[in-house]
Amino acid sequence: MKHEICKVADVPQTGSLIAPFFGREVHVWRSGERVRAAANVCLHFGGPLDCKDGKLVCQWHGAAFDMESGDRLEGPAPKSVATDVPVDARRGRRVELCLGRVTCLRRMK
Ligand code: FES
Repeated sequence: MKHEICKVADVPQTGSLIAPFFGREVHVWRSGERVRAAANVCLHFGGPLDCKDGKLVCQWHGAAFDMESGDRLEGPAPKSVATDVPVDARRGRRVELCLGRVTCLRRMK
């Protein structure tokens, strides 16, 4: 099930937009021509993530994830966090996200 989380025009050129998603939050950002997203939840113990200098950094224990690749850079979290988001260019360039893609938090190639 796809759910619109914002418009492409809402996504800032730098940093991230935090959008609501079924009672949770997702970071949404630009990565070149792509729009990517990750739940605002660290995979270690669930801490919230800050967007800092091209990284998502956990407020609790400092795990950091590269916003370009989604890969963990440092800290105790075990996985990558980012996922590519399909953008619907035909209907107002919506940024849509599937519930399953956010909950699994795996990078899509
Ligand atoms: S909860 Fe994020 S590093 Fe521990």
